[in-house]
Amino acid sequence: MSAPHARTPDHPIDPQFAGRWSPRALTGEEIPLATLMTFFEAARWAPSSMNGQPWRFVFARRGTPAFDRFLTVLAPGNQAWADRASALVALASSTHRNGRDGKPVPNGAHAFDAGAAWASFALQAHLTGWHAHAMGGFDHAAAQAALAVPEGYQFQVFIAVGRQGDASHLAEWARNAERPNDRLPLALTVREGTFDFEG
Ligand SMILES: Cc1cc2nc3c(=O)[nH]c(=O)nc-3n(C[C@H](O)[C@H](O)[C@H](O)COP(=O)(O)O)c2cc1C
Repeated sequence: MSAPHARTPDHPIDPQFAGRWSPRALTGEEIPLATLMTFFEAARWAPSSMNGQPWRFVFARRGTPAFDRFLTVLAPGNQAWADRASALVALASSTHRNGRDGKPVPNGAHAFDAGAAWASFALQAHLTGWHAHAMGGFDHAAAQAALAVPEGYQFQVFIAVGRQGDASHLAEWARNAERPNDRLPLALTVREGTFDFEG
């Protein structure tokens, strides 16, 4: 099992930020509903454009028919490890919000807001000894059908929730990747005053 705190930030930050990571080796153990709800509760308080809260989470705990339904829409490479998640969560966002006249208008921030909610969800999971692993690898049309999602919502990610377990059953590529990865230095992603990232 990899050490979850192997990352070294260049500036002092709370350990939760660099400590959170996304393992694929999961135990498949049961997750108490009360624990899972704390992750959604953290997501609930994320900021959003005009406080629109466009995120919608649908969860399926392992051992339920819904879990198998969720699993089938994942890309094969994700199915191979996410079948040992304690829960699978679909995160979709509402693409429109109510305009001044009550008519729906496009919400250009829906994906950004759902991303903020996902980050809070994942950090809360980490803080309580669990992991949340986002997956963009899934069949959108199959997800739409499997979850009977009406028009006006866009899937963002599926999330595998679990505790880290034995990596021996993973494919070789996944076993080799089973550790916290690094990040670009701030020198490549932060500028003062001008958007001067080229060269
Ligand atoms: C939007 C999104 C989509 C992702 N899709 C996948 C995926 O399909 N399969 C997978 O194994 N990991 C996926 N990941 C996990 C990322 O690879 C991972 O978050 C990234 O490498 C940073 O590693 P960390 O989460 O361990 O810090 C995804 C993450 C995000 C945020």
